[in-house]
Order: sequence, then C-alpha cells, then structure tokens
Amino acid sequence: VTRREAGLRIDAPRLLARLAQLGAVGADAHGGRTRLALSAEDQAARDLVASWLREAGADVRVDAIGNLYGVLDGAQAGPPIMTGSHIDTVRRAGAYDGCYGVVAGIEVLDALRRRGRPRRAVAVAAFTNEEGVRFAPDLLGSRVVAGHIPLEEALALEADDGARVGDELRRIGYAGTLAPTAFLPAAFVELHIEQGPVLDAEGVAVGVVEAVQGHAWWRIAIEGTANHAGTTPMTLRRDAGAAAMGLAGRLVERARADGVPQVATVGTLSLEPNAINVVPGRAVFTVDLRDPRDAMLERAEALLQEGLRDVERQGFRVAAERISHHAAVTFDPALCALIESGARELQLSSRRMNSGASHDAQMLAARCPTAMIFVPSLRGISHNPKEHTEPAALAQGAELLAHTLLRLVDGGSHGIAGL
Ligand code: GLV
Ligand code: MN
Ligand code: MN
Repeated sequence: VTRREAGLRIDAPRLLARLAQLGAVGADAHGGRTRLALSAEDQAARDLVASWLREAGADVRVDAIGNLYGVLDGAQAGPPIMTGSHIDTVRRAGAYDGCYGVVAGIEVLDALRRRGRPRRAVAVAAFTNEEGVRFAPDLLGSRVVAGHIPLEEALALEADDGARVGDELRRIGYAGTLAPTAFLPAAFVELHIEQGPVLDAEGVAVGVVEAVQGHAWWRIAIEGTANHAGTTPMTLRRDAGAAAMGLAGRLVERARADGVPQVATVGTLSLEPNAINVVPGRAVFTVDLRDPRDAMLERAEALLQEGLRDVERQGFRVAAERISHHAAVTFDPALCALIESGARELQLSSRRMNSGASHDAQMLAARCPTAMIFVPSLRGISHNPKEHTEPAALAQGAELLAHTLLRLVDGGSHGIAGL
C-alpha cells in the first residue's frame, strides 16, 4: 500500500500553523509558554482546540473532570478508536509536548471524515492536567478515566494557591456532565514527541513505544528554627534548608551512582523566610523518582523514607506526602505491531522504545489496548522552550497516526484483543 492508496492525506501546513497558534497561548517574551492546568491560558487553549474539533466535523463533549473530546460517529455502534494527549504545559514549556498529539489527532479525524463515514467511531481527547505542575497527581484526567483516582477526590484536589480542581473547572467553563468513563475507547493511540535523545541521535523517524517507566512524586516539608545567620553557631542551629539540600543532594547522587536507568530530580525547593541572613526555618521540596523496574522504584522510595527518618533524628519535624505514583506500564503488543507495520508501509524507519516521560496513554492502558508513537526531539530537549521537532518529522508522525487509525476504524481486529 502506498501513501496515496492509504487515502488519508494530512494537511501538514495546517498542522504546523495550528501548533504555532496553540503555542502562542500563554507565551512569554523568552520563547516559552506557561499554560498550567485550568488557568485562563488553559481555558483559551481549550477554546481553540474545541473550535478546531468543531471545524473538523466532530461533536465536542466535556466530561466531569474536564477532559475535552471531539467525536466522529462511526457506521457501527460501539466505543470509539481514540487518540489524543494534553494541552496543559509545565512552566516555560516548548510548543509540542502534548499539543502535537491533540492537533495531529484533529487532522486525522478531519481526514477520516473527508474520506467518508468510518466503521468505528473516532475520538480525539485533550486530557485535563497531564503535567501535574499546578495540581498533583499528574495525568489527572486520564487517571480518573482509568479509575486510578475517584472523581470526587480529583475534583477536591487543591493547588498551592488554594484553588480547587472542581472550582477551577467551573470557572473556566469546562466542568462537563459526562461521566469520565462514558468514552472508554476500544483502543487508544497517543502520538507524542519523544522528549529524549534516542530517535534524534540514531536518525530514526518514529518510535514504537512499548512501555512507560514508573514514577513516584513526593512533597517533603522540613521544619527547623529560623534564626540569625550571623549569631547562631553552626552546632546550635536547626537549619531546615541545609537539611533539605543535604537530603536532596544524597538522593540525586545515589541515582547517579546507581547508573541508568533510574533518575531522581528535585525540581522545586522553597525556603522560609527566604532571606540571605536568616537560617531557614522551613524547607519544602519535591522529589521525582522514575524507574522502569517497579522493585527498584520501591527501593528508591524506601531509601528516601530512611533519609527522612535520619533528618527527624537530627531534631527536625518532617512531613512527607506521596503526591503521585504509577507503576511501569507495558503497551499492547498487537497494537505496537500494527504501528510498526504501518511505519514500514509508509517507508519510515522505526525502532521499539520505552518512554521516560509519563503520558495519558499509560492510564488508558488499564482500560483498553493502548500504544504510542514517538517522533524525534532535537537533541532530546523538552520541558524547555527550545523543544523542537522538524516540521517534516511532525508531518510523518501524523501520517503514521492517520495510517494506524484508518486501520483501527475499519472494523477488523488486527489481532488486538477485544477489538
Ligand atoms: C510529563 O511530562 C512527565 O513525564 O512528568
Ligand atoms: Mn506530554
Ligand atoms: Mn510534559
């Protein structure tokens, strides 16, 4: 089958133009954008995506956790074939993380509609709060769909600024009425930039993602005593900042010493009262631990607990909370094989790989056959304004998504269980 015979032409210039347009929402003067979940910027991005979905002929629906769906009915009844990702961002993000999968999904839906009514329904999803920067846990919308967290608990989550998920959803006009399980798909394929260096380094066009590593997020508060930096002898102070930085340093060093694949990151650290001449009385920091081996992730968490007990023994008060967790996930082998054969048919080089980043697909995997497609990230840079994927590579990934979805909507099972 040649690309032409496949019959699904992606409007690549429009895909790129829309990525730029979406990337401008929440943009700053330094090339980045910040579109934290359920912010005014997220609202503007959602409005834009909803308008594109309508333009593509989709029926736009919102569920009770704010997941935004565009649905194209199929000739036969039954759950949709779904694609999608997220449009919320980290702070000072690039333009492609998440947005690529949503915008490309809309192009594919549009191409499918122009081709005639598909056998199976098709849906494009933009899931709520994938990033987890403002509200933890991350992957929130898809987590609710997967039944990993109850809806009520998700709606009650609070940000550092005191805002609640449920209130914020109402404020931005995306508190839907649909049950989050109303759209359990028959299969889910997420297209995403790799966010790592492998495909770019090897010059491979697409990654067929077989697995996602597990992660554990912790928020830790250490309480000491604020005091004068000049007068308090080193032996008589309870410096919460020094305790936090010492523990953080040991965690990161241990991951480094253990070698790949475990990674440990302390991405936030705040000291109170945050003044040059005051011994910190309180330190709050976060820890992001990831490992594809569940037992090793557990071990890393146990070592963290041990470190916290040491800090307590030194006279500090410690409060630690695990704010997100998910075990490693393996994707559907038959769906991976379908994507791989699609890449061959489109004459795109491919390789199997694991994902270091978390994705909504890992949640959907609990509910239906799921897999992911990666395209290269220039030098592996992501969660950074400099995140870049070549336009041609973006178009190729979208073509492979179209090719894959075209097969999935045709009514056949393609060896995929339950399809
Ligand atoms: C999401 O980007 C994550 O992996 O934290
Ligand atoms: Mn993402
Ligand atoms: Mn991300």
